[in-house]
Amino acid sequence: MLVLGLETSCDETGVALYDSERGLLADALFSQIDLHRVYGGVVPELASRDHVKRMLPLIRQVLDEAGKQASDIDALAYTAGPGLVGALLVGASCAQALAFAWGVPAVGVHHMEGHLLAPMLEEQPPAFPFVALLVSGGHTQLVRVDGIGQYQLLGESLDDAAGEAFDKTAKLMGLNYPGGPEIAKLAEQGTPGRFAFPRPMTDRPGLDFSFSGLKTFALNTWQQCRDSGDDLDQARRDIALAFQQAVVETLTIKCKRALKQSGLNSLVIAGGVSANKALREHLERMLGEMKGKVFYARPRFCTDNGAMIAYAGCQRLLAGQHEDLAIKVQARWPMESLPAI
Ligand code: KG4
Ligand code: ZN
Repeated sequence: MLVLGLETSCDETGVALYDSERGLLADALFSQIDLHRVYGGVVPELASRDHVKRMLPLIRQVLDEAGKQASDIDALAYTAGPGLVGALLVGASCAQALAFAWGVPAVGVHHMEGHLLAPMLEEQPPAFPFVALLVSGGHTQLVRVDGIGQYQLLGESLDDAAGEAFDKTAKLMGLNYPGGPEIAKLAEQGTPGRFAFPRPMTDRPGLDFSFSGLKTFALNTWQQCRDSGDDLDQARRDIALAFQQAVVETLTIKCKRALKQSGLNSLVIAGGVSANKALREHLERMLGEMKGKVFYARPRFCTDNGAMIAYAGCQRLLAGQHEDLAIKVQARWPMESLPAI
């Protein structure tokens, strides 16, 4: 089955062609980062309008790259939520219109299920069951995964998502959006041990997270550095390192707890923050000690992309799922409500 996948939940237009027999044939992405950077975050209306502009050229591009034609496509998959409603509607309308015109089915995909399944596109995919750490700009969740659509939420952030904390901490130090990659880059030149950030909610049982306090801690530290006339370039690097270490260690502690509680030693990390090198290294060390394994997607499939939507959609289409003609999207959509296949 050849599936055309469309991702438009936020600030990336992603398009990909996935073949159930041959794997991923082509994928293309247009990132709107430059468009939103001057505003320090995503402007929803600008995002929607830009998705409209980019979608059809990107579809033509992936068809050309794969040497395929519209008539070869068996089905469409699009992100139906969670995300920005206007942005989601662009992908949903486009997918539904093309599916209607081409006489093929279309399926709406849950964005976080897309992230969760992205490591399946790699050479050594994880096998069920496993624990998944989903860490993106909007979500931080620990989930027990027994199969596609068999999700048990073990814990989640009570306030900011991990990626959101990276973005806000970067912003308060005058860094560009998105903050995750900026902080990760600066942290490489940080002075170890200069600042000690807390590891929120690790001193009590449970698998929930809270990251908003870390951002406040970063703000106070940054203000102290400014007030005392410190070298601000070095202060940025040192805060970036201390902040990143705090997030990474907190996530690692909770992953270890979730694995022990579930009796599993297979961990999948997915979502934008799973591209973070320090996080991967920490988790790999921890899983090594547990004689287990950590799985993640190549960096460009950690952040938003069309390939994960084409893959996840394909699995659901193969199981017989598809939508009716209504164009429906959901800004909020709990992943546990998805049907098992
Ligand atoms: O999954 P994603 O592309 O979009 C959402 O679904 O939210 O995740 C974007 C988030 C942003 O907060 C970004 O700062 C963060 O992922 N991110 C990173 C890294 N690359 C992206 N955070 C830490 N380290 C990175 N290398
Ligand atoms: Zn995402």
